[in-house]
Parts: sequence; C-alpha cells; structure tokens
Amino acid sequence: GKPIIPYEEIGAETLSQLVDAFYARVAAHPKLQPIFPDDLSETARKQKQFLTQYLGGPNLYSEEHGHPRLKARHNPFAITPARAQAWLECMSEAMDEVGLSGKFRETLYNRLVLTAHHMINESDSEE
Ligand code: HEM
Repeated sequence: GKPIIPYEEIGAETLSQLVDAFYARVAAHPKLQPIFPDDLSETARKQKQFLTQYLGGPNLYSEEHGHPRLKARHNPFAITPARAQAWLECMSEAMDEVGLSGKFRETLYNRLVLTAHHMINESDSEE
C-alpha cells in the first residue's frame, strides 16, 4: 500500500544523496561556508541521522547524541534570516538534484521552512 512514514517513502539511499547534495552546496555558498567546518563529513553524518528521525524513521540521532535541542545547538552560530534563506535554497536545489517532486517534496520543504525559521537567532543587520 501507500507508505505512510515519510522516511520509508524517501528511503535511506535517497535521503543520504539529498544530504550530500545539500552540503556540497553549503560548502560553496558565500553566506553559509564561513560558519560551517571545512570538513562537512561529520556534519552530514549527523544530518542524515537527524533527518531519518525527523521523517519518522529510527531515532538514530537521539541514540547517539541525545535530544536534538536543535535551536540550542545552533546558538553558537549567527543564524540570520539571510542565512536561513540560503540554507533553504541549498536544500531546494539538492531536492531538484536527487529528483524529489510532488506532494512529498512540498510537504518536506514546508516543514523545513518552519524549522529553518525557528533557528534564526540574529538579525541580518548584525551579520
Ligand atoms: C548543525 C547552520 C538550519 C539541523 C549546524 C551547524 C551549523 C548549522 C553551522 C554546525 C555544523 C557542525 O559544527 O558540524 C544552520 C543554518 C541554518 C540551519 C545557517 C539555517 C536556518 C537547520 C535545520 C535543520 C538543521 C532547518 C533541521 C532540519 C542541524 C543538525 C546539526 C546542525 C542536525 C548537527 C547538530 C549536532 O552537532 O549534533 N547547523 N543550520 N539545521 N544543523 Fe543546522
């Protein structure tokens, strides 16, 4: 039947490709690159774990790192509205690259918009 768990709908392989396509763009983005580590392999590994549980799959992130507390974990970084927009643009392009489309893509993207906006902790003028 129709999968009801988003993680099962996207699958581990496409989710992994999505995260890799996303961080390739983050690494090249002038607004994002300065606040991320040079080596994004550990960041990507954690994001794969996080998105797995965000989409209803196994709680891989929490099993290794505890409660996500995403807003608190982003506090050390200046997350401005412009950076949130850049993050979402990188994600949208990554979704294009791995071929996500339709209702699934729309629903996931809209959720990520809300989460990204929640992470904002500084205004653009202070950038
Ligand atoms: C970690 C930036 C939004 C999930 C990070 C790190 C930065 C960052 C700089 C630290 C990377 C490292 O040291 O390895 C941003 C910016 C965002 C944003 C600029 C724009 C709004 C999001 C969103 C999510 C997310 C929307 C979830 C859907 C994560 C996770 C980590 C992380 C899971 C790893 C936390 C850990 O260290 O355990 N982010 N982020 N971020 N971010 Fe974001």
